[in-house]
Amino acid sequence: MQKILVTGGTGYIGSHTVVKLQEKGYDVIIVDNLSNSQIEVLDSIEAITMTTNGIENIVFSSSCTVYGQPDKLPVTEEAPIKPALSPYGNTKQMSEDIIRNTVNAVGNLNSIMLRYFNPIGAHESAKIGELPLGVPNNLIPFVTQTAIGIREQLKVFGDDYATPDGTPIRDYIHVMDLAGAHVVAVDRMLKKNMKKDLEIFNLGTGNGYSVLEVINSFEKMSGEKLNYKIVDRRPGDITEVWADTNFANNELGWKAEKGIDEMTLSAWKWELALAGK
Ligand code: UD1
Repeated sequence: MQKILVTGGTGYIGSHTVVKLQEKGYDVIIVDNLSNSQIEVLDSIEAITMTTNGIENIVFSSSCTVYGQPDKLPVTEEAPIKPALSPYGNTKQMSEDIIRNTVNAVGNLNSIMLRYFNPIGAHESAKIGELPLGVPNNLIPFVTQTAIGIREQLKVFGDDYATPDGTPIRDYIHVMDLAGAHVVAVDRMLKKNMKKDLEIFNLGTGNGYSVLEVINSFEKMSGEKLNYKIVDRRPGDITEVWADTNFANNELGWKAEKGIDEMTLSAWKWELALAGK
């Protein structure tokens, strides 16, 4: 198949052109520095063009961000989708919609959408892990980069939330547990064990931890004292969310096994490995 290299392929014009090229049977390779686009566009492109490439099964990486601040906790897959508070959240909602519509419109197409809670940690070998570009937005890379000395101080975004210690609560899940869920989902599709042509599963542990609890776990497991201070809330942050894991446990047959201490320790080992320690 003729290969075409498309620079800026996740951008506005680029993404549309990629779809057209794929429809014409070209094998498209995208190069994009994401300076003005989102990587999730790839999922959307895939959602539009899979049918032409004979793809029958799509595992989509969605996010618990689609629930916004849920009315009821733990949050089940039945909970309503709330208006997105970030462009990232919006891409997840849009991609879910595109896949949902396409599955409805096209026979012979199945999708499992996996709604990730907060993936953290690294492979136990410490050879792969989270590698954010520039200043990390997410909690754990900021924690480990602060502890190793790359960042001076962690800012804890608010301690006046309606939670026991005032900091927001999330359902952190070890990235290897999360990875395992994809294998289970793919098996389920290939063995034709799906009950419907579109299934949605929450991927979390079912346990919520506050920011301060995560910091405590990190300090305990690493033996490092973390330099942090409480600052104002970050706009767009919700108070608390954790998963109802019953559907994933019982129907998908998958369960997260690693606890918060294992997560923070593996994240720390990865940061140490990056620093050559
Ligand atoms: C963020 C994204 C969310 C995405 C998820 C992916 C925002 C507003 N939300 O969610 O769309 O699905 O990442 O993992 O960007 N925190 C600090 N200091 C920091 C960084 C984070 O106190 O320097 C706190 C946050 O206020 C939050 C918690 O740590 O309470 C977790 O933050 P983060 O890792 O960014 O995840 P989410 O906000 O849940």
